[in-house]
This record gives sequence, C-alpha cells and structure tokens, in this order.
Amino acid sequence: MNDSYLGFANSTLGSRIASMLGLPQPLPLERYKPGQPVIKGGVLIGGSANPQVLNALVAAFKSMDAHTVAHKGLPQWMGLANEAGMMTGRWGIADQAGEKVKALVFDATGLTDSSQSDAIYNFFHDAARSVLPCGRVVVLGRPPEACATPRQATIQRALEGLTRSLAKELKRAITVQLVYVAEGAEDQLENTLRFLLSPRSAYVSAQVVRLGLPSAANPTVDWIQPLAGKKILVTGASRGIGESIAEVIARDGAQVICLDVPQAREGLDAVAKRLGAKALALDIGSAEAPQALVDAALADGGWDVVVHNAGITRDKTIANMKDHLWQAVVNVNLSTQERINDALVGAGALKAGARIVCVSSISGIAGNLGQTNYALSKAGVIGMVQSMAPVLAEKGITINAVAPGFIETQMTAAVPFAIREAGRRMNSMGQGGQPVDVAEAIAWFASPASGGLTGNVVRVCGQSLIGA
Ligand SMILES: NC(=O)c1ccc[n+]([C@@H]2O[C@H](COP(=O)([O-])OP(=O)(O)OC[C@H]3O[C@@H](n4cnc5c(N)ncnc54)[C@H](O)[C@@H]3O)[C@@H](O)[C@H]2O)c1
Repeated sequence: MNDSYLGFANSTLGSRIASMLGLPQPLPLERYKPGQPVIKGGVLIGGSANPQVLNALVAAFKSMDAHTVAHKGLPQWMGLANEAGMMTGRWGIADQAGEKVKALVFDATGLTDSSQSDAIYNFFHDAARSVLPCGRVVVLGRPPEACATPRQATIQRALEGLTRSLAKELKRAITVQLVYVAEGAEDQLENTLRFLLSPRSAYVSAQVVRLGLPSAANPTVDWIQPLAGKKILVTGASRGIGESIAEVIARDGAQVICLDVPQAREGLDAVAKRLGAKALALDIGSAEAPQALVDAALADGGWDVVVHNAGITRDKTIANMKDHLWQAVVNVNLSTQERINDALVGAGALKAGARIVCVSSISGIAGNLGQTNYALSKAGVIGMVQSMAPVLAEKGITINAVAPGFIETQMTAAVPFAIREAGRRMNSMGQGGQPVDVAEAIAWFASPASGGLTGNVVRVCGQSLIGA
C-alpha cells in the first residue's frame, strides 16, 4: 500500500508545511538494487583500547572494496588497512570533523570496565553529525554472558542502551545495530556486516545480533548470488511478504518452492511462473502437511532452507473470541511449524548446513489488544527459535526469526486509518516498512555464510516504539 504522506512530506511545499507544523518528516529509505556497492560512501572506524576484531574488519572491508578512514582514537587502523593494501587515511584534522561518511563502525570488544566508556563518547561525539542520510552505524561487542568478569559483562551489556539511544538520536533514516561477536567467531562477521551496512537493512534498527561459532565452516560464497542453487521452501508465497521473500531469494540465485493454500492457487501460480519457481498448493495446517512436505523435499533431493512465513490473524478480545479462532491461529502460526520442522529434520529432508527462518511479529514481543491468540503464537515462534537453536546446532542446522513491525501489505491496509497512521509513524523511520525489508533480512539468515547466526530474533520495525 502507498504511504501518500511520505511523498507529500518530501515535496518542496509539503516539506515546508510539515516543518512549519512540526509534523514528522520521514525520508524515503534507500533500498538495495543489484549491482550496487555494499556501502555508497566512506566508513569511519573507531574503537576502544585493545580492540579485538580489527583484523576481521580489515578482511571484510577489503572484500567489500570499502573506503575506510580512521578516527583519531584508533590510529592503528591505518597501519592494518595499509598492510592489507587498502587505501585509508585519518579522519579530520586536530579537533575538526572530517568528511561526511556513510557508516560508522566502532569496535568495543576491548572494553572491560565501565570506567573506559569515554572511548565511546569521544568517537560518537565527534562523528554523530557526520553520517550521511540513510547511513549505517554498527557497534561490535563481546556477548556479556561469555565475559570473564562481571565488570566486563556490565560494560558490554551497557552497549545495548547506547545503540538503542543512538538509533533514536541520529534520525535521517540512519540505522544503528549492536553485534556481539563470540570469541573465535570473528571470521563470521563479513556476511552480517554486508547486511547491516548496506541498504538491504533499510528498516532494521536498534537490533542486537549475536554471532557465534558455526557448527561447520562457512563455504565460500558468491556475494552477488549467495543463494545460488539453494532449494528454498517459502510458505504463504502467493502475496504480501511471502511473495517478496520469494522474489528476493530468487534474485539471490535460489530455486524457490512457493507454497500457499489451494484457494490461493491463482496468485501462487502467477508468482511461481514469474520467478521460474515451483508451486505447491497445500494447507500447512492440515494433518497431512508435514508428511506431504517431507515427500516433496525428498523428491527434490532435500531442501537447503525453509522459510515459515505463512500466518493468519483472527483478532478478537479473548472474552469475545470463539475457540475455533484461537485454535486456527495457534495451529497455523505455531504448532504447524513445530510439526513441520520435526518431520523434515527427522526424515533427513533438510540438507547439511540447512537454515530454518521463521516470521514472528512485534505483537509477539509487546502484545496487542485483540491479539491474544496471534501474540501467543508469535511469541511462541521466538520460544521455538531459542529452544531449538542448540538442538538443531548438533545437526548443523540454524534457526532464526524476523519480527516485522508495521509493513505495508494487504494485512495492514485493512487496519482502520487512525491505528494505521499510528503504526506507520511511531518508529524511528516515521514510516512503514516494505515487504522487501523483511525479505532482505530473511535472505541474510538464509545465506550459507550465516552459519554463525542461530537463535537470533531480529525485528524489522524501524525501531518501533511498540514493544521497544
Ligand atoms: N504485514 C505486517 O505488517 C506483518 C507484521 C508482523 C508480522 N507479519 C507476519 O508476516 C507473515 C506474512 O504476512 P503478510 O502481511 O504477507 O500476510 P498475508 O495475509 O498477505 O499473507 C499470508 C499468506 O499466508 C498464506 N497462508 C495462510 N494460512 C496458510 C496455510 N494454512 N497454509 C498455507 N498458506 C497459508 C495466505 O494464503 C497468504 O498468502 C505472517 O506470518 C504475518 O503474521 C506481518
């Protein structure tokens, strides 16, 4: 659905009126187009004392062909980057800010005590005004739960408050994320940086991502088509977010199996035809669905990725809700996914290094009036991801979820005007996301280079105030 206010606020007259009346002035978000560089502009690198992921950063930025400059607090960056054959330089002269940059990356992994936090202040105080619109900020830390001392865990945990506040302050569609890199997982960084620093993550902000050791080494990835040859099932693919997921992963090289209910056959066939994909008309809520999917996967020689996108809402306050509405939502959105995962894994129908990606919702994080059934199911998806991650890791399979906020689809177009406008504007981007924003996050989790990502739940919500 179109957000006509976004166009109005960015017209000459509209922006003047919006500014006079103090109305929100959302910027059109930059989104990824094939062939673009990962980052359109320079990257300013900073860090605390004893930064631990600089070598991994050098390797990643070299591979991305990114232009980096060093903040005065991290002069060693220039030596490291030069050694790797990268052009670099020092940002700013004396106390003067340097050129505007598209991204800031701060290595905070060396922080062991809150008394060292001035390194953070110095970097972001100097650089906050120098980030271009639609810029990116990434802070790198160590997972607090694995820190050697309580003091170290404390300052590492504190980074969450920093990043979430920066995400609210920087505005102009700039996103800010925190990535906790486990010791030994430094070589997992590139794929996640490529996502978080590029326009692919346009509507992802204030998120905490945990990178761990993969159960098997990541294969070499073609960064243009990271999903080349991968067989990927997408449920609910005839329209909306599912259709967009199918489009994005097909763009990234996947052989897509598009699934939807038999009643959606027309739309399903049209999407599948356009993408050169297979169409599978099946109600995933039916008793025979798990076995039917096992059979389909085995006939394909196994699937590499399953995307559980299909979902329904049947909103009513619980006092007014009929039991069949409760059952239908919990079954389709949650129980079915548990049954399908168990069946596919049990039958060996997922290939080595497989990925399961689920779609939750911020409603499952914050709760929502009239959505006890839906919120239960979507919070359950988070529970499933977190509890299954260690179990599946033993089989080399990862499981992650995205939790969309307000996304412009037929589902949200049906929401009454006032609630729709509130959902759209009450986030740091001042606008709703597009289905493609959810799809890009799913493609990131689906990548063969995402072996270090499991048990993560990442919101695609523009830092929505709901459930913040
Ligand atoms: N649109 C949003 O703002 C938003 C926000 C948060 C979460 N989500 C979640 O994203 C996912 C996609 O949402 P959407 O907005 O594209 O919804 P949508 O209603 O446009 O699409 C959902 C698709 O799932 C299919 N489906 C439903 N039940 C099925 C079943 N039993 N078997 C097979 N297919 C089935 C539908 O036919 C439909 O094509 C859902 O899980 C939804 O809960 C959406």
